[in-house]
Parts: sequence; C-alpha cells; structure tokens
Amino acid sequence: MAVDLLLGLQWGDEGKGKIVDVLTKNYDIIARFQGGPNAGHTLEFDGIKHVLHTIPSGIFHENAMNLVGNGVVIDPVIFKKELDNLSKFEGNFKEKLLISRKAHLILPTHRLLDAASEASKGKAKIGSTLKGIGPTYMDKTGRNGIRVGDLEMDNWQEKYRALANKHEAMIDFYNVQLQYNLAELEADFFEAVEVLKSLKFIDSEEYLYQAQKANKTILAEGAQGSLLDIDFGTYPFVTSSNTTAAGACTGLGVAPGKIGEVFGIFKAYTTRVGSGPFPTELFDQYGETMGRVGKEFGATTGRPRRCGWIDLVALKYAVQVNGVTQLIMMKGDVLSGFDKLKICTAYNYRGEKIEHFPFNIEAENVTPVYTEMPGWKEDLTKMTSASQMPKALNDYIEYLEKELEVPIKIVSVGPDRTQTIHR
Ligand code: IMP
Repeated sequence: MAVDLLLGLQWGDEGKGKIVDVLTKNYDIIARFQGGPNAGHTLEFDGIKHVLHTIPSGIFHENAMNLVGNGVVIDPVIFKKELDNLSKFEGNFKEKLLISRKAHLILPTHRLLDAASEASKGKAKIGSTLKGIGPTYMDKTGRNGIRVGDLEMDNWQEKYRALANKHEAMIDFYNVQLQYNLAELEADFFEAVEVLKSLKFIDSEEYLYQAQKANKTILAEGAQGSLLDIDFGTYPFVTSSNTTAAGACTGLGVAPGKIGEVFGIFKAYTTRVGSGPFPTELFDQYGETMGRVGKEFGATTGRPRRCGWIDLVALKYAVQVNGVTQLIMMKGDVLSGFDKLKICTAYNYRGEKIEHFPFNIEAENVTPVYTEMPGWKEDLTKMTSASQMPKALNDYIEYLEKELEVPIKIVSVGPDRTQTIHR
C-alpha cells in the first residue's frame, strides 16, 4: 500500500489537525514526520477542543496507531503534558502511541539557546515559537544530538551533560539577559524522560515497511506549512525542517515511489504568525475581520496571526513542490459577509509581472496583482453538502481549482469534525 501525505500549503495553521482527525477513519497508522511542539494541531468534537503538539492527530480514533517519526523533535516535558491532558479522557492512549528511536530530543538548553538567539537578533528575529526547534535540528545536522534510542543506553546522561555544558557556554556567548534556573528545568526534564520511557520505542522505518507489506493504510501528517520549509520557504523566516512532501520520505524512511495521495490543505485566505514577508497581508477592516471571525490566534503561543487575501502565486508553488493530488479548503465560513474577495494571481517583481514564486518576496521587491470576485452572505457553518453552497462560493472554489489544476475535494465550514463538506 502507498503512504498518503497530508500537508499545509501556506505558513502553517491551515487546520491539519482537524482534517487528519476527519480522515483517520480511513487509516490504520497516522505518522508525524517533522517538526515538534512548535506545532499546535487543534481538533474539535463532542463540544471539546483538543490541542496536540507532538502527538499525531489520529490519537482519538479507536483503531489507529500513532507514530512519532524519526524526523520529529520531541520535548519530553511538553510530551508529558500532552499525555497528562489525554489522561483526562477515556482511552488507552499510550498503547496507541509509538516513538521512533531515531527522533531527536529537545533539551532544556535547546529552548534557552532558542531564546538567546532570538534575543540577540533584535528586530531581525524570526518570531520563533521558542520551543528549541532550531537549536535541536542544528545539533541533529551537526551530529551532536541525543536521540530517543539513546535513552535505552546506559551512558546517555553523560552525553546529555556534555551537550548541556556546551550549550551553557554558547548561551553565555550570546551575551543577552536570560533568567533561568537550569537545575529546575533539568528536574522537570528528567522526570518527563521517565514518562517518555514508559512508551514504546521502535525502529519505525522497519515498522512502516512491514505495515506497507501487510497492506496497512498509512497517513503521514505534516506540521507547519510549505512556506515555512527550510529549503523552499521564505528563508530565513522559516522553521528548521522540511515541511514539504520530501520531508515525509526522510522523516519516516518511506521511499519516494511509495507515496500515494498528497492532500494539500489551505485556508480560503492566508495567515502567518511570526516575522517574515507576506505579500497579501492586510492592515484594514478585511484583515481585522478575518482575524476576529477566524479566531486567528496561535494554538501554541497564543500570538495573533497576521491575515491577508489568498495568494495563488504562493499556492501554485506549494502545489508544485509537493506534488499535491487533492486540495482541501479550510475556513470558507470565515469569509461569509465579505462584499468582495481578492485573489492574488501574480506579483509585480522589481517592475516585472511574474507568476512564479521568486527568491525574495520582501515588500520592497513584490507587490501583489489581484483579481476580484463577489463574496457570499450566507452562513456556511450548518451546511452539510456541496449542493447547499452559495453560487459565489462555488465560483470561488472553481476559480481556484482551475488555477491550481488540482480538485478541491473537501471544504471545511467550521472547526467541528461534522462541519466538513465532501465534493
Ligand atoms: P520555530 O519553528 O518555532 O523556530 O519558528 C520559526 C517560524 O515558524 C516562526 O515564524 C513561527 O511562528 C513559525 N511556526 C513554527 N511552527 C508553526 C506552526 O505550527 N504554525 C504556524 N507557524 C509556525
């Protein structure tokens, strides 16, 4: 069986958690392949809102196994909190969770390094979630990291000490004001490591290989979004992993030829949290309405998200880099009541009209070229089938499909599992 992928096509926060939860009934295994607790995947059902950071979004389904893949970075302290939250609900969550031995650990000093690095950058800061993601991936590629499998070895605490000491020297080097009590942070960390050790650690690439041979259905769950990809995103305002489709191959050990459907998720408009260029960003009442109606606050940090019109130049690029086969449009309901909708179809780039995503999309280089469409007034949140959708929404969807050359198969009209229209 092929492995299907689900990815965000914008700057994250597209609503991947909800859609993985909706799709999970079709899959035996849900596998996260990159990122860490910088992600906040929100799921709503039975009137309860759940936010997951590291644990895959299939965890609430009876029959799905949930794998944290080798490409993920795990903070044991946050992982423990997620498990504590789950324990308030009924279910054998621990038994449905598997952790790759090759996943790297976020140490308390990685978080401190993230904070020191950001503080040292001043106005040029990335706007990181400060979860230690960048420093952990730096240690991974620098071949210094500590992996989950190391926790099964006797000498892991020695490795830990050597690395934490080095980090402390690096924090001093940044020469910024940082208040912390490492002994306290370490006490929490070591306690949480014991909880992590109570879970099942596996050689996940072998597990997935055998699962494919046994015809199990597998969905790889991405985090963040394509425009935050370390290679293809708006560098340096990106995260530190490959959020695009290729990241699923390296982050799970799945061969490229084994990838099946690629589900690409996008919002009917655009949002971005943190710093970095955003050509279609709005500073008027339209942007304010998107933020307010769409409740656009970060699930991990609570920061307000920047809002703007949909950007087809960026979306086409994401569809292309990921090889998207099916599109899923989120939050159409948020645009109800807008008299007009703008769609960015090209960029004016240093005096030239271009339709591809260029090296640099900073505001001094890029101004968006828009086309306009009429909006719709109807409340979409109670709609259950495509036949109930207003004509203006249908026209909007069909325009996007034509431009992106990929069908929009699902339209989400609210945060609940049930507010999902299949086309
Ligand atoms: P980091 O990955 O925490 O270092 O953050 C780097 C950039 O990616 C910042 O602009 C963050 O706001 C953004 N970012 C990281 N994770 C997410 C996410 O899950 N959703 C949206 N933005 C994210």
